Amino acid sequence: MDKLLIRGGRRLQGEVSISGAKNAALPELCAALLCAEPLTLDNVPRLQDVATMLALLRRIGVQVERAEDQPARVCLAAGGAIDPVAPYELVKTMRASILVLGPLLARFGRATVSLPGGCAIGSRPVDQHIKGLRAMGATIAVEHGNIVASAGRLRGARITTDMITVTGTENLLMAAALAEGETVLENAAQEPEVTDLAELLIAMGAKIEGHGTGRIRIQGVERLHAPAVPHRIVPDRIEAGTFLCAVAAAGGEVVLRDARARHLDAVIAKLREAGVTVEAGEDWIRVRADARPKAVSFRTSEYPAFPTDMQAQFMAVNCIADGAAKVSETIFENRFMHVNELVRLGAQIQVDGHTAMIQGAPRLSGATVMATDLRASASLVIAGLVADGATTVERIYHLDRGYDCMEAKLRALGADIERVR
Ligand code: EPZ
Repeated sequence: MDKLLIRGGRRLQGEVSISGAKNAALPELCAALLCAEPLTLDNVPRLQDVATMLALLRRIGVQVERAEDQPARVCLAAGGAIDPVAPYELVKTMRASILVLGPLLARFGRATVSLPGGCAIGSRPVDQHIKGLRAMGATIAVEHGNIVASAGRLRGARITTDMITVTGTENLLMAAALAEGETVLENAAQEPEVTDLAELLIAMGAKIEGHGTGRIRIQGVERLHAPAVPHRIVPDRIEAGTFLCAVAAAGGEVVLRDARARHLDAVIAKLREAGVTVEAGEDWIRVRADARPKAVSFRTSEYPAFPTDMQAQFMAVNCIADGAAKVSETIFENRFMHVNELVRLGAQIQVDGHTAMIQGAPRLSGATVMATDLRASASLVIAGLVADGATTVERIYHLDRGYDCMEAKLRALGADIERVR
C-alpha cells in the first residue's frame, strides 16, 4: 500500500491550480443517465472516486470516453441498453453510488442499488432518499441488502427531508427534473455542488429555481437533452480550503488558481481570525502566513456555515496554534478518527462526544501515522508538513479518493513530500 513520506519544516511558496470538485463531479456524472444524448463534462478531477463512478456507469451500460488530449474532459452516452443495477462490490467502495438511484428511476422506471453500508465517519443512512422517491410515486423495497425500486412516470411532490442531506437533495433534484408536475424540495442542501448540478440540469433543459437556497422548485419535463456546450465542473472548495490550511500551518505565501473564495466564506473568516492573511479575486485566492496561527474554535454545520469536510484539516492548524480551541462536529457521529493519529505526532487533544478540545503545541514531532478516511488523511499531511523530522502517512488510498495529485501539488510549493510504495 502506498505511503506518503513527509519531512516537516518547509514553508510553502508559489501557485497551485485547484481541480474540479469531487462532490460536484459525482452527481453530474450520474446526470448522464437522464438523457439519451451524449453528455460532455469538463474539469473532471482525476480521483479514485471518479474512476469508481465511471466503472459503475459503464456497468450500467453508459458509454464513457475520456479524450486522450484532454484528460479532464469526459463524454458519457446513456442512449443504449441499460442494466439499472448498482452492485454491492462497487457501492461498498463508494457511498455516492446511491446517486444513480434517482436518475435510473426517473428515466427507466426501475433500479436495484445495493444499500450503502456505513463508513468510517458514520452510519450514513439513505432513508431520506427513499422517503422522497416514495413521495414521488416510486415503489421501493429494501431486501437482501438491496434497494429495489420501480415507478411509472414519477410525480412531482412537496418533500421536506428530516435533515439537510446533500446527496439526498441531489438524488431528488435529478428525479424531479423528469417527473410529471411540480416538485418542491424544502430543507434542501445549499452546497455549491448542489447548485452546480442544478445549473447542469438547467443547461440540459430542466426547469429549476431556488437552487442555492433551502427551497428548490422543479417543474418536470418530458425529456432532457445534452447541453449546447460542455459543462465545466465547479472548482473544489474543499481542496482549496485544504491548501489554505496547509499554508496556515506550514507558513509561506501561495496563490490558488481557479478557486472560488465565495464558496469558502466560513473557512476564510476563521483563518483570518487565526491571523492568516487571505486576499481574493473572482477565481483566485492568495494566502499568507508569517507567524504561528492563533487557536480558533469552530463548529461544523451545513453550507454556508463551516463545512464538516474541513473540520479535520483546520484541527491540524489548531494543533500547532497559540492557545486552546474547541471544535464541534455536528454532522457526522464519528468524524474524529484523525485525533488519535494527530496525538501520535504530539498534538494535545481531548475528545468528549462531538466536541474536541485542542491545546496548541509549539511543535509536533514526526512519526508514522495511519489515514482512516479521506479528510483525516489530509489532516495528517498538513500536520506532517509542520512536524519536526519525518512523518509517514500510511493507507493513503483514502487520500487518493478525493485529492488530485496532492503530493505533486505540495512538492511544487516546496514541501519535502514523496509517495513511497
Ligand atoms: C455529502 O455526503 C458529501 N459527499 C460528504 O463529503 C459531506 O461530508 C456531506 O455531504 C456533508 O456535507 C458527497 O457529496 C459525495 P448528507 P452525504 O446526506 O450526502 C444524515 C467528503 O469528504 N442522513 O448531507 O452522504 C447523515 O447520516 C465527503 O468529500 C440521514 O440520516 O451527506 C449525516 O449525519 C464525506 N439520512 C447528515 O444527514 C439520509 O437519508 C448529512 O448527510 C441522508 C443523510
